Amino acid sequence: MNQRRNFIRTASLATLSAPLLSFDSKKEWSLSNLNDHYSDTEDYWRMVRKQFPLKEGQTYFNNGTMGPTSSYVLDKMIHHMLHINKEAATVDYKNGSGPEILSGYFPYEGLRTKLGKIINCDFKEISLTQNATFGMNYVGMGLDLKAGDELLNTNQEHGGGFGAWQLLAKRKGCIYKQATMPVPANDPQEIFEAIFKDVTPKTKVIAIPHIVSVYGTVMPVKQICAEAKKRGIFTVLDGAQCVGHIDVDVKDIGCDAYYSSLHKWMLAPGGSGILYVNKDVVDKIWSTIASYNWENEDDHGFRLMQNGTGNPAQITGFEAAVDFFNTIGKNKWLDRVKELGTYLRNGLKEMPHVTISSSTNENMTAGITTYAVDGLTGPELQKTMWERERLQPRSVGSVLLRHSVHIYNSKEEIDKALKIIKSLG
Ligand SMILES: Cc1ncc(COP(=O)(O)O)c(C=O)c1O
Repeated sequence: MNQRRNFIRTASLATLSAPLLSFDSKKEWSLSNLNDHYSDTEDYWRMVRKQFPLKEGQTYFNNGTMGPTSSYVLDKMIHHMLHINKEAATVDYKNGSGPEILSGYFPYEGLRTKLGKIINCDFKEISLTQNATFGMNYVGMGLDLKAGDELLNTNQEHGGGFGAWQLLAKRKGCIYKQATMPVPANDPQEIFEAIFKDVTPKTKVIAIPHIVSVYGTVMPVKQICAEAKKRGIFTVLDGAQCVGHIDVDVKDIGCDAYYSSLHKWMLAPGGSGILYVNKDVVDKIWSTIASYNWENEDDHGFRLMQNGTGNPAQITGFEAAVDFFNTIGKNKWLDRVKELGTYLRNGLKEMPHVTISSSTNENMTAGITTYAVDGLTGPELQKTMWERERLQPRSVGSVLLRHSVHIYNSKEEIDKALKIIKSLG
């Protein structure tokens, strides 16, 4: 047995059996099967499904919590971990191979450029963060806010969308407010009015989700940011659920700042987040975490990612996940998420004992659908799905089920869920 195989055995990584078969057989996962010239057929998507180590016979419907990682990405990460642990002594840190053995000190311009192309901005407007929560905090803690400044959230925030603003209210004496959102939200104008009802001349920040965590509502953020700009209000969007889920074009939206967790819909490894701050306003944001480059005036995105040592294999996996996404192609990927979401909703709409809490306005929704089934609690519904067909959506609150669909899911899997739900009527 060669040294590499021996290492894998002794490190007990065998539990990750599917991707590590590639090590045993010396096969490496590649992107070649995914190339754009393949047609967008059910066969193509069945092939995509095989790129994930998810077990056959089980269905993951909880991407809203965490995206699974493809074998291609896992392979790149595991190789990186093995490489730096075997080759540490051969790395010439000072002369260029530093990023191989640690992260947190380098600008990663290549990765940031790829990400900039996806969300339409310059790489210097992007910082690599651990996740959405970091993005919110870097913006909130970085702004020079004073007592009496009003900060506006909605009443549908995740903790990674409200925590910083509540903390700032307590610490600095800012006034914290929440706009009450409609449920279900089917009219963008109604949302717009709900937000601006709570805006006053003292409002300094509007911090709202681009996609609402619980319901999956795609908010009319462009319209809201345009109005906020007229009133001189700083806008920061919580896009934790967005990149890889819907098209995100930060310039078209016109927000001041935007953050996302790419370990969700972009299927990047855990700890892959981004923060965008528009170059015209970035000098309003102080660095929160400071190290060597905390004052870098040329590359503000780099200035805001002075995080110290992290996990270099995660950076490798992050870039591999972006390559995986780009190889399938943004439009094909996003259209498939939407197609599956619509397929699920169309099935649910036929059933009188189902109440859909998500938007049923197809312009305001994509891959997350949240619903209740008469006579069952959310946890009972989740349990029934698992016990009958090994399906794993996620219950939220007491009666709702949040059902996410992504490119690794199939219409057959959604049919199984619909059949179960139908039988409960
Ligand atoms: C809308 C929203 N914001 C923020 C977060 C927090 O994300 P993270 O834990 O990756 O920072 C989530 C997580 O589900 C979310 O849905």
